[in-house]
Amino acid sequence: MNDVKSAKNDSKNGVELVGVGKMYGNVHAVRDVSLAVKEGEFLSVVGPSGCGKTTMLRMISGFVAPDSGDVRIGGASMKGVPPRKRRVGIVFQNYALFPNMTVYENVAFGMKAQKWPEDRIKDKAAALLEMVGMEDRAGAYPRHLSGGQQQRIALARALAIEPRVLLLDEPLSALDAKVRNTLRFEIKRIQRNSGITTVYVTHDQEEALSISDRVALMRGGALEQLGVPAELYASPASEFAADFIGVNNIMRGVYQGDGRFVWNGRTLFVETKRDPGPAAMMVRPERFAPAEAGPVLNEPNINILEGRVVGKVFLGPLTRVAFSVDGATLLMDLLSAAGEPLSAGDPLRARFAAADAHLL
Ligand SMILES: Nc1ncnc2c1ncn2[C@@H]1O[C@H](COP(=O)(O)OP(=O)(O)OP(=O)(O)O)[C@@H](O)[C@H]1O
Ligand SMILES: [Mg+2]
Repeated sequence: MNDVKSAKNDSKNGVELVGVGKMYGNVHAVRDVSLAVKEGEFLSVVGPSGCGKTTMLRMISGFVAPDSGDVRIGGASMKGVPPRKRRVGIVFQNYALFPNMTVYENVAFGMKAQKWPEDRIKDKAAALLEMVGMEDRAGAYPRHLSGGQQQRIALARALAIEPRVLLLDEPLSALDAKVRNTLRFEIKRIQRNSGITTVYVTHDQEEALSISDRVALMRGGALEQLGVPAELYASPASEFAADFIGVNNIMRGVYQGDGRFVWNGRTLFVETKRDPGPAAMMVRPERFAPAEAGPVLNEPNINILEGRVVGKVFLGPLTRVAFSVDGATLLMDLLSAAGEPLSAGDPLRARFAAADAHLL
């Protein structure tokens, strides 16, 4: 039958959501989400608070049952399969270690529950503690560990039962920026080495773009866009996506066809295949560059905007320059090393290529 056939075809999928939905009262927490996480893939789920990220993880783990649709793990439907039988490892935001157990006991807990032989538990726990760099803290209690150390233990504990899927719900959001940065790459390294299918929830778009194979952006319970990080960054599917993924210049105007976009009475060139009509043009700040002085030539590949510098912010390697054109403020990122001597009030000619403009 159909089910059997699709289960076979999907065997390369670690986790699959098929038209999954969940209501809480009249709140549509997750609406008709279909997506497949490939075996061994690292998928991040991002989106604003309340968009359904945690609810989606809970449905994969089995703690919440979908109202509609189906969750499959390794090609098999999870309908009626309780959480402990799904072989899913979970790491939460708030450490959630057992406070009255040592580090070793925390990591060994799941293996003991599954009645593994003592020797095997010892070996496995030692290997996991080494993997997360905590081998010398086996006897410590959680209260004696920093937040970052506790999350390392939570990760080791989640991996102990050799899950088929690893689910992480904002595991780093309670940590300071430096620890977060180190740990995100450790999680990525451990995930790559173990090859475990991973779904990682975060509302930090930079984190998602830096460690994921693909990123799923959610909005109001639905999937807004799914793609590899570079795709989401360069070609957001909507203004919402552009806005969520990072700093953008969004210029609203009308696309006239033939690669011509009219914004504030100016004609700008863009490469697009879309139909004429109202549209928003997006240009990344790093795609602007100062242009030589001279007449504004209407070259179809190059756009030039004339305006004035409003201010600038030093960001380390980059300096972000705000400039205004006909009352609209746009941002341009320049390499600080280039040492542009721009200051507020200076006239500015900014150029960008038609290929660097993206129509939404
Ligand atoms: N147990 C529940 N009872 C009632 N409403 C809930 C419950 N869990 C979630 N919701 C609602 O469902 C929606 C999605 O919640 P969810 O926790 O999945 O969001 P989230 O994307 O994880 O948000 P955050 O980034 O704040 O963690 C929200 O409107 C939330 O209020
Ligand atoms: Mg959440």
